[in-house]
Amino acid sequence: MHTDSTHSDSNAPGHHNSEYHASSAAAMEDRYARNERVWSGDPNAALLNAVASMGLDVASPRTALDIGCGEGADAVWLAQQGWQVTAIDHAPTAVRRAQELAAENGVQIDARAVSFQDFERAMFDLVICFFGQLSDDDVPKLESLVAPSGWLIFVHHDMESEKYLMPARLKEQLTELELVDDYVFDKNLERGGGSHHHRDLVLRARRR
Ligand SMILES: C[S@@+](CC[C@H](N)C(=O)[O-])C[C@H]1O[C@@H](n2cnc3c(N)ncnc32)[C@H](O)[C@@H]1O
Repeated sequence: MHTDSTHSDSNAPGHHNSEYHASSAAAMEDRYARNERVWSGDPNAALLNAVASMGLDVASPRTALDIGCGEGADAVWLAQQGWQVTAIDHAPTAVRRAQELAAENGVQIDARAVSFQDFERAMFDLVICFFGQLSDDDVPKLESLVAPSGWLIFVHHDMESEKYLMPARLKEQLTELELVDDYVFDKNLERGGGSHHHRDLVLRARRR
């Protein structure tokens, strides 16, 4: 395990207040605006792997929410698999890129520039959060977004963080959802931000 400057939380004052969220959103927006592309453009291998073993009925209409969708590769991949996808990120440039990626791939996603904290309370058959910067305070809302029989896939790098919600801490705090499994997923990204990470921690939970 190691710490990661990408997700640096040192000196973050009052992580749970709106001032903190505004500055965190501004920092991410700045990062996107300064770089033509931040992430690899490929869906997370851990997502493909996790979904493959969920035994989903592709024929029935299903809704998915991608929290912290970044440039949209996961949201677009889910849309390509037939999911009706809502994708949220508090960095407007990321959301615009997610919309563009969807259009380039001929699929539709409902991409919105909104923070997780301000996002409406709705329910989805699948909620995913890959490398999001949520906190322990966000767990009740995170659980509430999962529909009956729905799934949560929550993934982070194998790293330590005092401030950000990690799969291990989420596991301890689940009250509404039932843990399905949690495991290490080894990966080898060849490009994009985060490619120095080679181990992700995956948590899957369901509302029964
Ligand atoms: C490390 S990036 C990962 C992006 C994408 N999930 C992926 O795997 O490529 C985390 C993303 O979450 C967004 N984010 C962080 N905190 C958020 C919040 N509270 N509400 C909405 N988006 C947030 C950031 O702007 C950033 O785009």
